[in-house]
Amino acid sequence: MTTGRDNSSTLEKMSVLTENDIDPFLDLEEEINRLRRDMNAVVLAHYYQDGEIQDIADFVGDSLDLSRKAAATDADVIVFCGVRFMAEVAKILSPEKKVILPDMAAGCSLEETCPPEQFRAFRAKHPDHIAITYINCSAEVKAASDIICTSSNAEAIIDQIPRDQPILFAPDRHLGAYLAKKSGRDMTLWQGSCIVHEQFSHRELVRLKSEHPDAPVAAHPECPDEILRLADHVGSTSSILNFVGSAPAETFIVATEPGIIHQMQKNSPHKTFIGAPGADGQCSCNTCPFMALNTMEKLYLCMRNGGPEITLPEDLRQRAEAPLIRMLEMSPVAAPADAESANAESSVTAGKAAAAQ
Ligand code: 13P
Ligand code: SF4
Repeated sequence: MTTGRDNSSTLEKMSVLTENDIDPFLDLEEEINRLRRDMNAVVLAHYYQDGEIQDIADFVGDSLDLSRKAAATDADVIVFCGVRFMAEVAKILSPEKKVILPDMAAGCSLEETCPPEQFRAFRAKHPDHIAITYINCSAEVKAASDIICTSSNAEAIIDQIPRDQPILFAPDRHLGAYLAKKSGRDMTLWQGSCIVHEQFSHRELVRLKSEHPDAPVAAHPECPDEILRLADHVGSTSSILNFVGSAPAETFIVATEPGIIHQMQKNSPHKTFIGAPGADGQCSCNTCPFMALNTMEKLYLCMRNGGPEITLPEDLRQRAEAPLIRMLEMSPVAAPADAESANAESSVTAGKAAAAQ
């Protein structure tokens, strides 16, 4: 038998809160730190997340850094501030952990442009090809691939494939074209693209460069070729961060999602970073709408509610795990990403220190 009082407190604990239930005076940072301690959770964040989320995370990184971190953590719960496929990778590599994310609707246009059935048909049409697939895809597409890659390890992985072996690359046609050009390899490309990186305007970028002739352009390889041709450095988010941190210039033009500028400014406060423009001459259209779904409020709520949680059928998880493990085995140990992780970790120590108080 239970008393009414016991019942209501249990109910209060069990009830799922929504954004409307959040007390506007609640100190979200303090609550997130308390929950992180109570749950033995680690908060992982991608560089495209809002600055506040990057600052409270235990670790900020690119897709490869985050996969490695998820595979190695000893926390009980992984709170993933990024898009759904990234949180799914964390679950695939750490199946015994609970993986939660602020918003389950945080998808990715690359994942959307590559439905598993069509991808399997694409593979069946090219039986002699090896399928190297960009990590920005669903677990089903991973499971139908031979090796997964990210933008920071793709070149190194392709270099390990025998030169006479034809390659299928999905889903990003721009990254695929960039890799085929750099490696000189025969690659058959899936025709997917990222809606964010396709927004950059060649005309506006040429104009911006003429206004800042000494500013190097750093671009993500998901950008179309006409943008990459204007770039002084092409690489993953971690690689771009490394470049702008170490190059001697004072001003940089950044052709990737503008959330990364938060980390650039933190690492190099004396430097100036200008987001590459879209067709309207502004860079606001280049914000990833999926990454932007995650907010501090939803981060708090997912920790408070214990979900939304990533779950996968065990058979699918195991099939998706094999090409991810291959990726980790074929990745250079000291990838450029690791240097950024160190940067990120120092910024993140602030979050941890706060959590420990
Ligand atoms: P990185 O692996 O370079 O962080 O890229 C992730 C991504 O989604 C780029 O749009
Ligand atoms: Fe996907 Fe593009 Fe957003 Fe990256 S920026 S998560 S590729 S939609």
